Amino acid sequence: MRRLSPAMLGDGNVAGYRPLREAIANYLGTSRGVNCSPDQVVVVSGAQQALDLIARIVLKPGDAVWMEDPGYIGAIHAFRNAGARLIPVRVDERGFDPEIGRKACPDARAVYVTPGHQFPLGATMSLERRLALLSWARESGALIVEDDYDSEFRFTGSPIPALQGLARSEAVIFIGSFNKVMFPSLRLGYMVLPASLVDPFLAARFQIDRYPPGLSQSILCDFIDDGHFGRHLRRTRELYSAQLTAMHENARRYLDGLLEIPSIQAGLITPALLRNGMTSQQAEQTAAKHGIESMALDRFVLSRTDIHGLLLGFAAFNEGEIREGVIALATALGSCRPDSR
Ligand SMILES: Cc1ncc(COP(=O)(O)O)c(C=O)c1O
Repeated sequence: MRRLSPAMLGDGNVAGYRPLREAIANYLGTSRGVNCSPDQVVVVSGAQQALDLIARIVLKPGDAVWMEDPGYIGAIHAFRNAGARLIPVRVDERGFDPEIGRKACPDARAVYVTPGHQFPLGATMSLERRLALLSWARESGALIVEDDYDSEFRFTGSPIPALQGLARSEAVIFIGSFNKVMFPSLRLGYMVLPASLVDPFLAARFQIDRYPPGLSQSILCDFIDDGHFGRHLRRTRELYSAQLTAMHENARRYLDGLLEIPSIQAGLITPALLRNGMTSQQAEQTAAKHGIESMALDRFVLSRTDIHGLLLGFAAFNEGEIREGVIALATALGSCRPDSR
């Protein structure tokens, strides 16, 4: 990959607006325990662009990549597009299990994880497993891709610091998104790269779409520097926490025996596990007929057959709407026995 000439760099916009990169590095250091300088921060259009860049720049066809199973479909697509060989690694209540990856394919080139809030099942990766993953990456030279997509939204207990902050010599690419924290159409996110990868990523990014839109970057930067971002996070954390509580309470009341929502206190969406014998697809279609939009959990599966449930959003609805939605879902799932289909 060609190194960037000063002319290509222009005023530094390829990696993003410099004051925004400083604000991001500062925020990540204090709030997420990420260890980085602004020079390692590259502004992108979102976590998805970061994943696409990683797939294009780091992976070669045939490279093995450990993937969470179930896991984020956008990462699965990005890595498949690069011709990578995906190695499913089962997640459980302690998150991703590196021991399974070691047994299946010890010399994988990379691993993709969502340790703060596993997508879609919601677990937090245990410290023991984080250290085991880092130790494997150190020995094998593999790259860790840490997707921290919505870790700002943790409603109880202390925030869980990033895996990247525990790394020493291991190569970790840390990805985050303002599209979750602010609003999806903002299309701004960031990656924190090991120093040796900054130039190759900037050169590739320049060839793809030059650099991110300056106007929205400078507005976002002022929003952070003037303290609005911190206030926004505190307010939305409180709001979404109340909405998730409403979801849990209504689910206990109306969905008993049909759908069980784990007690995880984080995020903008929650998994819900079917208890009525339906498959994920049957439940998604039945819910849709009753006006409820959800996602079948088996959309995110690589090789597992034991996942039967739905992904439900709660952040976009007030408590009254959540109650109505849960009642409609209970009517849908209760009215339709799987064996009568
Ligand atoms: C786990 C995960 N990673 C990445 C993304 C992509 O985020 P962005 O909208 O910032 O591209 C999403 C979006 O839903 C996601 O759920």
